[in-house]
Amino acid sequence: MAQIINGKLVSAEVREELKAQTQELFEKYGIRPGLAVIIVGDDPASKVYVNNKEKGCAEVGFYSEVYRLPEQTTQEELLALVDKLNKDDKIHGILCQLPLPKHLDENAVILAINPEKDVDAFHPVNVGRIMIGDYSFLPCTPAGVMRLIESTGVDITGKECVVIGRSNIVGKPQAMLLLHKNATVTICHSRTKNLAEVTRRADILVVAIGKADFVTGDMVKQGAIVIDVGMNRKADGKLTGDVDFASVEPKASFITPVPGGVGPMTISMLLTNTMTAAKNAIIK
Ligand code: GUN
Repeated sequence: MAQIINGKLVSAEVREELKAQTQELFEKYGIRPGLAVIIVGDDPASKVYVNNKEKGCAEVGFYSEVYRLPEQTTQEELLALVDKLNKDDKIHGILCQLPLPKHLDENAVILAINPEKDVDAFHPVNVGRIMIGDYSFLPCTPAGVMRLIESTGVDITGKECVVIGRSNIVGKPQAMLLLHKNATVTICHSRTKNLAEVTRRADILVVAIGKADFVTGDMVKQGAIVIDVGMNRKADGKLTGDVDFASVEPKASFITPVPGGVGPMTISMLLTNTMTAAKNAIIK
């Protein structure tokens, strides 16, 4: 029987800490951390994420601006907005919700964001800083995963950690953050041979591949910590992760549920990065 890692609870703790820090920052310097979120077009999932980011800001006392731009927004208009926000002292963090409509160049937008305001940690400067272990911002989902692993009280040092998935947003930075905590890290992906053999070595298994219920009990070592980054919608409309909870839970020591595991952490980590950006702006 595994202990369930409660992402809602850990996320609420992070937000309580942020609320207190916001108040302290305001009393000392008269500054509130400010986040600008840009969304282009009508993608329903993106709209929900952006609304939740706006609510998250309000909850911890941040200043926020949301730019809801029409689908036909041009690259020039979008870059002009990023440029304006780069120069705005009220704004410490800028996030452009992805995916963008096809006619827009995501990479160009990421490159245009001042790395000091890049609270997604998507800019190559920040990606590079994560690589060398000298970073201000951690990418939100991997940072949330680290916080959940830390909440178990288990020391990561020397552990066999296996990450399934090699995306730029989750798998690759996740492996790097685990490495910085002195884990022995393996990254698996769609071309990995004998996947179950590799995953069965994992003391800590992080799964981010986007395939419903993909990891089953026979792929997991007895007593492993299992973190499920997946968010898949089943035919009946219910959310499910990349881990088959029913068969994995009896073998794991700790496991994250879906929903209620990694999901609630990501916006809290975004808010944490925005707080860091505001503090960095004061120091400068
Ligand atoms: N779309 C899905 N996840 C993310 C994220 O973490 N950041 C941004 N900017 N867009 C996303």
